[in-house]
Amino acid sequence: MSIEVVDIGSVPAAWTRRHLLDLESLSAEELNIILDAAVAFKEASGNCTQKLPILSGRTCANLFFENSTRTRTSFSLAARRLGADTIDFSSSSSSLSKGETFIDTAKNIEAMGIDAIVVRHRTPGTAQLLAQNVHCSVINAGDGAHEHPTQGLLDILSIRERLGRIEGLTVALVGDIAHSRTARSNIWGLKKLGAHVIVCGPSTLVSKHWEELGVEVAYDLDTILPRCDVLNLLRIQFERQTTRPFPSVREYALLYAMNHERLAQAKQDILILAPGPINRGVEITPDVADGPHSAILEQVTNGLAVRMAVLWLILGAGN
Ligand code: CP
Repeated sequence: MSIEVVDIGSVPAAWTRRHLLDLESLSAEELNIILDAAVAFKEASGNCTQKLPILSGRTCANLFFENSTRTRTSFSLAARRLGADTIDFSSSSSSLSKGETFIDTAKNIEAMGIDAIVVRHRTPGTAQLLAQNVHCSVINAGDGAHEHPTQGLLDILSIRERLGRIEGLTVALVGDIAHSRTARSNIWGLKKLGAHVIVCGPSTLVSKHWEELGVEVAYDLDTILPRCDVLNLLRIQFERQTTRPFPSVREYALLYAMNHERLAQAKQDILILAPGPINRGVEITPDVADGPHSAILEQVTNGLAVRMAVLWLILGAGN
């Protein structure tokens, strides 16, 4: 069986980056280049199911020092859909346990002929540090509570796909803002594209200082809900917390979970996003997570499209 090589066009001249480390440093034009490329890949690959082997001969390495289901799998699949080879590095079975440093580990992986490293690490700034120490391209797949740029992009693409625009929308990020790299990437991306962003949650997880990033800070979901076009429900990251930021999970759910009763108070076409993994019954009830307003699984498909676009822009540009 022959594989059809689809012409996706050439990398736009305005795209000159070798790495994707954050959304903070990207312009609105660069954000739109990635989003438009993701749409093109989604269409050309039959909703990301077919191969477009335009990165044949290239090799991508996944270096994940934290657990992942969606990001790791979809970066691997995106690379393979584009015809690239992939390496999946597992920190738990690596020579890190023998004292090898993070940078030495990455340099040794790179020496095997790697074109791009996709890295996830619990320490903020890790992707930036890596980019300063290796010759290949680096893509940030989440660095502590700093940024998760492809998650921000796939969230924004899911909004644009369902609601047709970003400019002028009111998007609330609800939940554990303090520990959320997804919140930061969403804020940078959404604001550059003209959305009004609200961060909402208990005061122990949402500082007033977030206003310095140009967002609205709210503590009462029921007050802001009627004017929201989109709710992005961020997971309570129990694993990153040293003290419990609210008296009980039940109380958190009473105040902030998106449920049937709250849906009745929202705009008729409100869009519900959640980056996953979701805590069913904590941030969102199962009927809402699986209901018609939810784009949770569309986000996962769009993650594949966004990651195909990012790999193509970074590697297809001949870096
Ligand atoms: N949303 C997200 O980053 O999911 P994973 O941790 O499963 O990759």
